[in-house]
Order: sequence, then C-alpha cells, then structure tokens
Amino acid sequence: MHIVFAASECVPFAKTGGLADVVGALPPELVRLGHRVTVYLPLYRTVRPFLPESYEYAIRSVTVPFPHYNRFAGVVDGGVRDGVQYYFIDCPELFDREGFYGPRGAGDYGDNAERFGLFSRAVLEATKQLGVPDVFHVHDWQTAVLAVLLRSVYFFDPVLRNVGVVLTVHNAGYQGWFPPRTTELLLLPWEMFTFDKLEQNDTFNFLKGGAVFCDYMTTVSPTYAQEIQGAEFGSGLEGIFSRRHWDLRGILNGVDYSQWDPASDGHLAAHYSADDVAGKLECRRDLLHAFGLEQVAETTPVLGIVSRFATQKGFDILAAVADQLAEREMVLVALGTGEPYYESFFRSFAARYPGKVAVEVRYDDALAHKVEAGADIFLMPSRYEPCGLNQIYSLKYGTVPVVRATGGLEDTIEEWNADRRTGTGFKFSGYHAGDFLWAIDRALWVFANDPEGWKTLMRNGMGQDYSWEHPAREYVEVYEEVQRRRG
Ligand code: ADP
Ligand code: GLC
Repeated sequence: MHIVFAASECVPFAKTGGLADVVGALPPELVRLGHRVTVYLPLYRTVRPFLPESYEYAIRSVTVPFPHYNRFAGVVDGGVRDGVQYYFIDCPELFDREGFYGPRGAGDYGDNAERFGLFSRAVLEATKQLGVPDVFHVHDWQTAVLAVLLRSVYFFDPVLRNVGVVLTVHNAGYQGWFPPRTTELLLLPWEMFTFDKLEQNDTFNFLKGGAVFCDYMTTVSPTYAQEIQGAEFGSGLEGIFSRRHWDLRGILNGVDYSQWDPASDGHLAAHYSADDVAGKLECRRDLLHAFGLEQVAETTPVLGIVSRFATQKGFDILAAVADQLAEREMVLVALGTGEPYYESFFRSFAARYPGKVAVEVRYDDALAHKVEAGADIFLMPSRYEPCGLNQIYSLKYGTVPVVRATGGLEDTIEEWNADRRTGTGFKFSGYHAGDFLWAIDRALWVFANDPEGWKTLMRNGMGQDYSWEHPAREYVEVYEEVQRRRG
C-alpha cells in the first residue's frame, strides 16, 4: 500500500510537540511492515539546514489558485530516510518564517488559513505527478482541510477521487478557527459553510471539516477517543465525533526507542538500562548541574517537567500548590516554553525558591532527554492529554510518572500497589490541586521510605514496551478498512 502523510510537524525537521514525534516515527515503521510511505511537510526555515547545498526540485512549480491571484509552490525532494520519501512544499513567502504557526512559537500568523490551505492543495497536486497514494493520512487541523478539498473541489478528479483519507486527531483543543470569508479564500462554495459541514459559531473550522469529510478518524489513545465524544473534551466537536463513532478509533501512540532509550541516548552523561541502573545517578548529577542545583543531597528526589507551557498541561493546579510543594523534601526542574502566563509562573516559582526550584524557559531537545533521565519523578497534571509521550519516555528512563488520569495518561500509567508490587506510577482523577499534591506525596513517601518498592516501580516502568510495531499494524488495519470502503 502507498500512504501519503501530510503534516505540519515531523522530527527532525520541525517540532513543537508530540505530533512531530509521531509523524517522524510511524512512517518508518510502516515501511518496515512492507508499505510505501511518502511524507509531505511545509518547507519551513528549520527545514533548510537539512537540505543539501544544491537541492533538487521534484516539481518546480505547482499552481495554487486563490480568488484574485495564484500562488506557486515548488516541491523539493527531501530524499529517502529509513525507507521514507520526504517532500517539502516550498512557498517562501508563507513558510520561510521564524515560527511554524506564529512568531516565536506563540500566537498565530494571520494568514494560517492560507498557509495550510495552500499546503494541502499543493500536496494534492504534487501527488498527481509524484505518486497517487492508496490513502492520505492527515494530522490535526493544519492538514484536515485536505479531506475537505478532496471531497469538494477535487471531487471530479479521475486520479484522486477514489483515494481515502484518514484523519488523526492529536489534539481536539486546536481546531483552526478562521473567519467565514475563508470559504471564498479557499475557493469553496458557500453551500459548504453550514453547521453540518464547515461552519461552527460563525467560524470556518478546519478540524471540523476534516472530521466531516474524512473516511476514518483516529485519535492517539482509546480513552481520548471516548472523551472527545463528550462536551468536556470534544471542544464543540463532540457532536460530529459521537455521530461518527463507528469511524473513530483510538490507537495509542508508540515511542521511538531509537531516540528515547537510556541505554543508547546520545544526550546523556551515562547510559543505563533495567538490568543496570547505576548510570542514572550520573545522569541525575549532570541534570542538576545543567540547572545549577549541584548541592542537592542524593536522598532528595528530583521532580522533572518537560512540557509546552499551555493551559492543556494543567500547571494552574501546580501553581495552586506550589508553595506547599516547596515545603517538601524535593527539588523541581522544569523545561518548557509557551504561554506567557505559565512562563512567568515558573520563573517566579524558581525565583521564590532558589536552590530548590529551577526552570529553563526554552525549547531544548538535549535538555529534554537529560530531564527524562536525571529526574526521579516526572509530573504531568494535564487537564486533558490525547496521548502524551513524556510519561512513556519517563517509564523507559526509570523516572516515575505522577499523572492526571485522562486520555493517554490513563491508558499508559497504572497506579502503584504496594501490596501486590504492581503499577508504574501515581495517578489522580479530579482536576484539583489537592489531589495532585496528594499523588506527589504518595510518590515522595515511597521514594523516602520504601527503597525496594521504588526500585520495583522503576523496573515495572522500564519493562513496558511501547514500540511502534503494534500501533503501526493498527493503522494498517485502518488504511485497509478505508480502501475496502472506497472500493
Ligand atoms: P504535546 O504534543 O501535547 O506537547 P507530548 O507529551 O505528546 O505532548 O509530546 C511533547 C514532546 O515535545 C516530547 O517529545 C517532549 O520532549 C517535547 N518537548 C516539549 N517541550 C519541550 C521543550 N521545551 N524542549 C524540548 N522538548 C520539548
Ligand atoms: C498532541 C497531544 C499529545 C500527543 C501528541 C502526539 O500534541 O497533546 O497528548 O501525545 O499530540 O499524538
């Protein structure tokens, strides 16, 4: 089968979060299973360093019409890596910018509808020359609009009309809301701007369009697939998600152990594994050094956070108990960037407790790996979490997760049971600061008072296998189902 991925992020080329990890890792796994996979990405500024000095255009110019002008996109051949063919859609006036979605990764560019509308249309055009797939696999609102175009203005295209589309919803909290005139901008008929298709609260909704027009939807964990069918997590799209629940499946993300394994991770000061965790102590020292916390005693647990600082991630309930937490025997290191409100919360938390709380407000892949390895406990109090990868990385790194029981966090972390010696972390359900603190306290208690129990907890986590092979097979089942339906 030939599968074309159209996505707005993919490691190593462009990343703000887990979407990039998934789009980086799933295609090579599909290739290992015997399929042909092509990945299309926008040619952002961050992609340029990956191109050879004299790169080739696979297509010099694709015409993408807008109401009063055409834009022209090149398709740059990004070559083959791990069996996956990469193409980059080159439209410098739209993509050669500082951020992917907005300046400095925060906020949005005013022309995002045009940027990602152009991207999706250019991908459709490019595939007609470079290889028509059996299935398109699109991701989140940015490329959901490809399904809309395919089933409307491309309806009569003899080459594309029978190609199926799978939409993966990585995060229903971001839907791509644009003004009604976006309908005209994308040359779509006004008849489509209705509540059963693209319109919602008088906005043009990219994700909704994808959910309506795709052949099949997946989300990144089974629990999240259920959650988005209700008002709390569906963010207004619960109606369409529940109406199409037969076409909706939760497939838990895998993780790429070639990048995220303490036995081989190139960013670490020492290596370790479940059989010999000695190296973790060296990683802890290295991490504390990176955060300027060299004086910490070995008996003091290190709490770690790596996250986009977004409302989704639940740091308001951390803020509510920050001073109580600071009274505990622990140190906290946090790496993240995002909404100014949370950046300033973390900065002021660190300023109030020097030597105990430290924060780095930036995006730093190497440091993210060091936190996973060097911390003893990893905090994810997410308000909602479609899957979450950091807790899965934490398991592999023997870093015990404390998580809120939502989405993929619910599906991947099992509460520690001291009698049966089972479980991999600590969970709380309600969105209450007190419950979060109580879960942290349970973790701190085991760390301080039951060293054997703690070792078992670490070992239980390190023994988990979340490699991509199983989820990749599930995606193949979905692609095959879509092919069957399209005949
Ligand atoms: P989300 O996609 O919602 O941000 P995930 O847990 O699925 O959450 O994935 C987050 C990914 O982004 C992880 O690979 C994590 O290490 C990475 N990440 C997040 N913030 C940073 C940061 N400030 N520096 C480096 N990596 C980060
Ligand atoms: C989204 C979600 C996250 C998920 C990631 C990859 O960004 O917030 O939970 O792990 O996508 O699917």
